Amino acid sequence: MSNIMAANPTVAELIARSNRLGSDPNNTNYAGGNTSAKGSEIDPVTGEAVELVWVKGSGGDLGTLKAEGLAVLRLDRLQALVDVYPGVEREDEMVAAFDYCLHGKGGAAPSIDTAMHGLVDAAHVDHLHPDSGIAIATAADGEQLTKAIFGDKVTWVPWRRPGFQLGLDIAKIKEANPQSVGCILGGHGITAWGDTSEEAEANSLWIIDTAAAYIAEHSKAEPFGSALDGYGALPVEERRAKAAALAATLRSIASADAPMVGHYNDDERVLEFLASTEHPRLAALGTSCPDHFLRTKVKPLVLDLPADASVEDSIARLKELHEAYRADYQGYYDRNADADSPAIRGADPAIILIPGVGMFSYGKNKQTARVAGEFYLNAINVMRGAEGLSNYAPIDEAEKFRIEYWALEEAKLQRLPKPKPLASRIALVTGAASGIGKAIATRLAAEGACVVIADLDAEKAQAAAAEIGGSDVAVGIAANVTDEDAVQGAVDATVLAFGGLDIVINNAGLSLSKALLDTTVADWDLQHNVMAKGSFLVSRAAAKVLIEQGLGGDVVYISSKNSIFAGPNNIAYSATKADQAHQVRLLAAELGEHGVKVNGINPDGVVRGSGIFAGGWGAKRAAVYGVDEEDLGKYYAQRTLLKREVLPENVANAVFVLCSADLSHTTGLHIPVDAGVAAAFLR
Ligand SMILES: NC(=O)c1ccc[n+]([C@@H]2O[C@H](COP(=O)([O-])OP(=O)(O)OC[C@H]3O[C@@H](n4cnc5c(N)ncnc54)[C@H](O)[C@@H]3O)[C@@H](O)[C@H]2O)c1
Ligand SMILES: [Zn+2]
Repeated sequence: MSNIMAANPTVAELIARSNRLGSDPNNTNYAGGNTSAKGSEIDPVTGEAVELVWVKGSGGDLGTLKAEGLAVLRLDRLQALVDVYPGVEREDEMVAAFDYCLHGKGGAAPSIDTAMHGLVDAAHVDHLHPDSGIAIATAADGEQLTKAIFGDKVTWVPWRRPGFQLGLDIAKIKEANPQSVGCILGGHGITAWGDTSEEAEANSLWIIDTAAAYIAEHSKAEPFGSALDGYGALPVEERRAKAAALAATLRSIASADAPMVGHYNDDERVLEFLASTEHPRLAALGTSCPDHFLRTKVKPLVLDLPADASVEDSIARLKELHEAYRADYQGYYDRNADADSPAIRGADPAIILIPGVGMFSYGKNKQTARVAGEFYLNAINVMRGAEGLSNYAPIDEAEKFRIEYWALEEAKLQRLPKPKPLASRIALVTGAASGIGKAIATRLAAEGACVVIADLDAEKAQAAAAEIGGSDVAVGIAANVTDEDAVQGAVDATVLAFGGLDIVINNAGLSLSKALLDTTVADWDLQHNVMAKGSFLVSRAAAKVLIEQGLGGDVVYISSKNSIFAGPNNIAYSATKADQAHQVRLLAAELGEHGVKVNGINPDGVVRGSGIFAGGWGAKRAAVYGVDEEDLGKYYAQRTLLKREVLPENVANAVFVLCSADLSHTTGLHIPVDAGVAAAFLR
C-alpha cells in the first residue's frame, strides 16, 4: 500500500513539503502541526477515480513523516459528516466517525485536526505551531496585530479547542475571505493553504517569516523586563557543577508520583529568560499551545533564589516549592475536573527552572524529557514575541485543563504500549567499552534503561555507546575508576546526561595471573585500585545520588568465581575479587534502609569478547591448561557441570534479572554465572 501511495505524485509532494517544513524548528514544534493534500486515485473497487484527502496521522512528526504516517480518507464521506454533526457539545464523537471515512485500510489513525484539513476548501493545507505565529496568537491584542501585520491576507480565528468545530470555523472564515492565504488560530498556531503544494508551503513560510520580521522590527528592547540583579548565568563550568549537584534533588521532585528521566538544558535563551525581572510572572502564566500541557504541565516550577545561592539553600527551598507546586496543581485539578475527567496524572512539575543554571525537563524516557524541554524553549520564544509587541495572554485555565485531561488524549495515553521493564531507569556501567560490561550496557538499554558507558578510553566508550543507540539511549564517557575526581565526574556526567542514576554496575577490571613470588607490589596495587578501591569510589559517589533521589536503586558488582575459589597463581586478582564480594554484603546491609539493593555476579571463564582474555591472560591460562588459546572457551566449558561456554550475554542476563522488578526483594546475593563450578558453590 505504501508503495502505491508513495507513487501517487500528490502524496510524494505532500511528504516532501512536510519534511521540509517539519525539519526547521522555526516552523513547528516536534510532532506538532499537520499537513494535508487532496487528490484523486483510481478506486480498485469501481475502477473510477475517487477523491481522497491525505493528512498527517495522529502522533507523527512532520520532519520525518513518511507515506505510512498519513491517514487516507474519502473526501465525499469526510465532508458529508457536516450533515450529521451533532454540535460542539458532542464534537468529540466525530473522531470515531472518521473511521467510517477511511479509504482502504486508511493508513495511520486520523488525528483530531483531520476535520480542519477536510473541511477547508483548498487542495493543500498546513497547520503549524511556529513560535512567531503563536506569539501573535497569544498576544492580548492578537486580532488587531494580525490585521496590522498581514492586512486581509491572514484572518483571525478566536481560540477554540482543536476539533470538528474549529475545522468548521476555519472553513467558514476562508470562504468569507477568499483573498486570504491562511489564519492565525488564537492561543494556538497557524493554518495556511494553497491550490498547489508549493503555494501552501510558500504561504505557510510567508506567515511565519512575516510574523517573525514584524516581531524583530517592533518588539520592545527588553521583552522580559530589565536584568534581574544576581540572576545572570553562572560561568559554564560553575553552572554545570551546580546543575549536577542539584540533579538528584530535582529528579526526586519530578518523580514523587512516577519515576522520570531528566534532560538538562542551559541554552542561553533559557538563561536570559531567568535573568530578567518578568520571568516569575510569565512562568506562572504557563504555556498556551495545545501540544504543550501534556508534555510540560501547565506551568514550570521556578526556583526563586539568585544564581549564587548555595546548593544547600537551593535544595531546602526547592523542597518547599515542590510542596507548594503539588498543592497548586491539585487545586487546578480539583477546580476544573468533573465526574467524567480522567484521574489526576501526578502533581509533580515536568519543567524546573533554576536561575543562573538552566532548565531541567522530565518525561518517562529521555526522548520525552528532551522534547518537554524543547517545548518549554518554544514557550519562552512565544512569550518573548508576545511580550515584545503586547502582553502574553495564554488561554485560560479551564481550557488548559480541558486539553490536558481531554478524554481523547487520555484514550491515546491508554493505548500507548506497555513500557519496557527498565524504562525510566538510568544506569552507569564501568568498564563498559568491552566484554562483559558492554554486554551489560547493551542488555540494560534493550530493556529500556538509559546507560552511561564509562571506560578508560573516551573514544572506545563513545563507540560502544553509538553501537547501542543514539544519545537518548547511551552516552560514552572517559573515567578511570581509580581516580576519586574522575569517578565523581562520571556520576556528574550521568546525572547531567539523564537527570539521575538508578543502576550502578561495578564492572571495570583487569586480571594479571601471577604466582605469589612473581606478584609485584605494582601488580597488587593496580588490581586492588581498579577493582576494590574503584568499586568503593563508584559506589560511594553513586550512593550519594541514590540516597538523595529516594527512588531506591541497584548496585551490582561483577566479582568472580575467584572471589571464593582458591587456586594457584591468582593472589592479587582473587583477593581483590573477594574484597568486592564483601563490599556487596557490607553495602547491602548499609544501603537497605534507602531501598538500594546491592548484589553481585560471579562469572567464570568468559573468554569470547573479553579484553582480559585477549590481553594475555587467556594465553597464560591456556598454557597452564595445555590447550590452544582459541580452544580455551571450550576447555572451560567441559570443566563445568553444564558443559556450557559462558558468554558475556549470560552475565548481562543475570544483571538484568537482579535489577528487574522480579527480584525486588533480593539484596546481598551473589549469582554464579559459571555454567556450574562445584568448587565455587556458595554456602
Ligand atoms: N572474563 C571473565 O571470565 C571474567 C570472570 C569473572 C569476572 N570477570 C570480571 O568481569 C569484569 C569485566 O571483565 P571482561 O572480561 O569483560 O574484561 P574486558 O577487559 O573486556 O573489560 C574490562 C573493561 O574495564 C576497563 N577498565 C580497566 N581498568 C579500568 C579503570 N581503571 N577504569 C575504568 N575502566 C577500566 C577496560 O578498559 C575494559 O574495557 C572484570 O571486573 C572482570 O574481573 C571476568
Ligand atoms: Zn495545533
